[in-house]
Amino acid sequence: MINIISSLFGRGDPVLSEASSRDTAAIAALHGASFARGWSEQEVEGLLIDRHVIAHRAISGSKMAGFIMSRLAEDEAEILSVAVSSQRRGRGLARVLLNLHLRRLAGLGARTVFLEVDEHNAAAIRLYDRAGFHEISRRPNYYPGPGSKAATALVLRRDLT
Ligand SMILES: CC(C)(COP(=O)(O)OP(=O)(O)OC[C@H]1O[C@@H](n2cnc3c(N)ncnc32)[C@H](O)[C@@H]1OP(=O)(O)O)[C@@H](O)C(=O)NCCC(=O)NCCS
Repeated sequence: MINIISSLFGRGDPVLSEASSRDTAAIAALHGASFARGWSEQEVEGLLIDRHVIAHRAISGSKMAGFIMSRLAEDEAEILSVAVSSQRRGRGLARVLLNLHLRRLAGLGARTVFLEVDEHNAAAIRLYDRAGFHEISRRPNYYPGPGSKAATALVLRRDLT
């Protein structure tokens, strides 16, 4: 496994590397803090030990600052989740995690990457737009919310060259 891949903003700042099942608890905690329906530790561990799942993490000190996870099947990948801890948001961490992740997916043979994003998730939409993803379809009533109307999912795609 490639371990330390890059340091972001200088000394003491997040270090990016591949994630493993040892990161289960920290990723489940960050996922739970980032999404309305968090993944259980069991679900996260199941993903991290799946040989078709590729995951990267950003560690700051001893804390999980961010992660990204995809499933790769043949030459198609789907981004399953990405999150950055609330204290670390807005400083480009998701961008560097995504760029690293896409390079790794390409190296493993992925030619196309898909994902779904809530139409109201401005930060994620901006992140993906800047990384070259474009909308290919919409899934209405996809994300259940507190109100009666569920949010639409945008299905995005990027071809890797
Ligand atoms: C989406 C998320 C991962 C972005 O992480 P981040 O490290 O803050 O993102 P970055 O700092 O790399 O910013 C990426 C882009 O989004 C923009 N952005 C960040 N926060 C934003 C906000 N609240 N509203 C609009 N744009 C925003 C940034 O300006 C940047 O665009 P730029 O390159 O044009 O300046 C983070 O907000 C998060 O964890 N959210 C909760 C989980 C989630 O929604 N995940 C995505 C599911 S599809």
